[in-house]
Amino acid sequence: QAGPVWGDDAGVAGGAGLARPAADISIVVPCYNERANVRPLVAALYQALAGRAWEVIFVDDSSPDGTIDEVRALAESDGRVRGLLRVGRRGLSSAVIEGVLSSSARIVAVMDGDMQHDESCLGRLIDAVARDGYDIAVGSRHVAGGDNAGLANGWRTFLSDSGIRLVQMILPVRLGDPMSGFFAMRRDLFERTVPRLSGTGFKILLDVFLSAPQRPRVLEVPFVFRPRAAGESKLDILVLMQFVAMLADKICRGFLPTRFIAFSLVGLVGILVNLAVLDIGRRFGADFTTSQWLGTLVAMVTNFWMNNALTYRDRRLRGARMWLGLGLFMIICSAGAVADVGIARAIFSRDGEWRLAGAAGAAIAVVWNYAVSSTLIWRV
Ligand code: GDD
Ligand code: MN
Repeated sequence: QAGPVWGDDAGVAGGAGLARPAADISIVVPCYNERANVRPLVAALYQALAGRAWEVIFVDDSSPDGTIDEVRALAESDGRVRGLLRVGRRGLSSAVIEGVLSSSARIVAVMDGDMQHDESCLGRLIDAVARDGYDIAVGSRHVAGGDNAGLANGWRTFLSDSGIRLVQMILPVRLGDPMSGFFAMRRDLFERTVPRLSGTGFKILLDVFLSAPQRPRVLEVPFVFRPRAAGESKLDILVLMQFVAMLADKICRGFLPTRFIAFSLVGLVGILVNLAVLDIGRRFGADFTTSQWLGTLVAMVTNFWMNNALTYRDRRLRGARMWLGLGLFMIICSAGAVADVGIARAIFSRDGEWRLAGAAGAAIAVVWNYAVSSTLIWRV
C-alpha cells in the first residue's frame, strides 16, 4: 500500500515545495500588549538564527492592543511564525508552559517579546543544549560580562537583587541569575517537569529549577539586559506577591495548594490592614470598638480585592458580579470570625492557653473562608 510520502512529495524530490524542514528549535515568546515589538523581534531572530531550523511561537493572552493580529499578519506569509492565543487567561509562566507544550522541536528557547533580551545570545544558548550536552542554558545578567542595565530604576534593582539572594538559598543548583526569563532547554525535560510546576506568576525558569525531576546540567551565558524600547513592563505588586506565593508553595513542596497559600498570605496582609486602621482610628479619637469595626471592614474589603486580583486572578470577577462577590465574601468572613471566636473561647476556657486558642481559631477561620469562598465566590 503505497501512499504519498511527505518528504518525497514535497521538497526533496522536486515536488511542489509544500513542506519546510521541521523546526529543530522553537522560540517561545510570551507577550501581552507587545504589538509594536512583534515585527522587530522576528527580524532580529532572522538575523540571530540564520542557518538554523527555527520557528517562533508568540503566546498572547488576548492583548487589548491586538498583538495577535500583528503575529497573524506575519504568519500568513511566513511559516516560521506561529501564534497561540489564550482567552480569558493571564500569566507569563502559564503562557510559556503552553507555548512549550505546543512545540514539537527538540529544543525550546524562551525569551521576552519586548526586545529586552539580547537575541544575539540565542545562538550560544541553543548550542549549549544542542551540541554541548547541557540540559538548560540561561541568559544571565549576573555573571561576568552580563549586565542589568535595562532595569529602569534603583528600586527595581534592589528588589531584583534581594529576590535573587532569597532564591539562591533554596535553589538546587548554583546560578547567578535564577530569575532570568531568557533560556534554552531540552523540550523533553521541560515536558517532564510540567506536572510539578506551580505555573503561577512570572518566574518560569525558577519554577523549572525548583521542580525538575533531576538536577539539570546548567550553563550560564552572560548578556546585557536592554532597556525597553516600546510598551511597558507588566511587573506590579500583584505579580510580586504571586512570586512569594510560588516560593512558599515550593518550600511546602506542594503539600498545600498554591491558592490556599496565596489566600493565607492575603489574610496576613488583612491583619496588618486591620491593625493599621485601628491605630489610625484611635489617633483620630475614635473609641476602640468603633475603630476595630472600621479596621475589620476595611480589611475585609481589601482582602476581597486582593484575593480577586491575585489569588483568583485567572477568574477575576468584574462589574456587578464583583459587588455580589464582595457582599458574599463579607458574609462568609463574618461567619468565619464567629467560628474563630467561638473555637478560641472554647479552647481557652478548657486549657487557658491563649496563644493556642487564638491560633486554632484563626486557622479554622482561614480554612473556612478559603473553602467556602473558593466554592461559592470564585468556584474553583
Ligand atoms: N502571555 C502573557 N501573559 N505574556 C505576558 C504576561 C501575561 O500575563 N505578562 C507579561 N508578559 C510578557 C510581556 O509582554 C513580555 O514579553 C514578557 O512577558 C516580560 O514581561 P515584562 O513586563 O517586560 O517583564 P520585565 O521586563 O519586568 O521582566 C522580565 O525580565 C526579567 C528579568 O529581570 C521577565 O522576563 C522576567 O521573567 C525576567 O526575569
Ligand atoms: Mn520587559
